[in-house]
Amino acid sequence: MRESQLEMRAQLEAFGQRAEYALSAALPQSNSPPERLHEAMRYAVLGGGKRMRPLLVYATGTALGATLKQLDPSACAVEIIHAYSLVHDDLPAMDDDDLRRGQPTSHRVYGEAMAILAGDALQALAFELLAGHPQLERIDARCRVQMLQTLAVACGPAGMAGGQAFDLEAVGHELSLTELERMHRYKTGALILGSVQLGALSAAVSAGPLWDALQTYGLELGLAFQIQDDILDVLASTETLGKRQGADEAKGKPTYPALIGLDRSQELAQLHMDKAIESLHPLGSEGAILEQLARFTVERGY
Ligand code: IPE
Ligand code: IPE
Ligand code: MG
Ligand code: MG
Ligand code: MG
Repeated sequence: MRESQLEMRAQLEAFGQRAEYALSAALPQSNSPPERLHEAMRYAVLGGGKRMRPLLVYATGTALGATLKQLDPSACAVEIIHAYSLVHDDLPAMDDDDLRRGQPTSHRVYGEAMAILAGDALQALAFELLAGHPQLERIDARCRVQMLQTLAVACGPAGMAGGQAFDLEAVGHELSLTELERMHRYKTGALILGSVQLGALSAAVSAGPLWDALQTYGLELGLAFQIQDDILDVLASTETLGKRQGADEAKGKPTYPALIGLDRSQELAQLHMDKAIESLHPLGSEGAILEQLARFTVERGY
């Protein structure tokens, strides 16, 4: 392995560790009341996950000159929203899954009502972090409002929640490829794009050629990420995935492999990854870690 690749791997590991530490510090302690709610929140967020969204925040922000301290609140906020989306996604009323990140799902441990509340509280906490974190004091107020809006769009009706609604409505219906792409861009792509945008905004980049390049990167990567998630549901084992293999097919979920087959799905994931990488050109060598993350998105096995 080339030295630069080893350095990038070490950098990504350091970002990941930083995210773990910052997340643990951002969450309420489980020995303060209401203990059960706090425990459920910590259970949903800590101890697992690839931390792809925080990695994107750190990689984008540092490429544009932000400090790690400026990036912690955004990294935590997106991962906390993501964790909340997984808790609700696994509920019996949604995907009805019992395994997540190799552990029983939140509602299996804490009951449905507490799992719903943990999701609600995590969503609020994410916005609280972006609105009032002392590490963001040096980012100007207009930019901070834009960060809040970015997160809201990413997880709202035109983002994750909207995509989950398309997903629920689609079960048992055949979607066109255009409809499936829209669903994936909303339910998963929006929060991936939001992670990249938050990284850029933390570095006070909100327009111009670098912003435009990162916009394309986030859009392409977000779609590639969910296509690969669909592919892994077919190809990987339950043990490797940490979630039930074959769950999509069992529930009649509309997925890329179901609609266009595995080979074409893999080609498409690759195509969107290539487009994401191409878009990084204006960042020059500063885009190297983002390129690495794009490759990981499609080459990952879990
Ligand atoms: C799974 O996301 C759900 C999707 C939005 C595709 P991840 O694959 O990022 O799950 P973790 O965070 O690593 O567990
Ligand atoms: C989840 O999509 C998207 C979310 C917004 C959570 P999936 O339902 O495919 O995610 P997994 O496979 O359960 O992680
Ligand atoms: Mg789902
Ligand atoms: Mg699911
Ligand atoms: Mg899936």
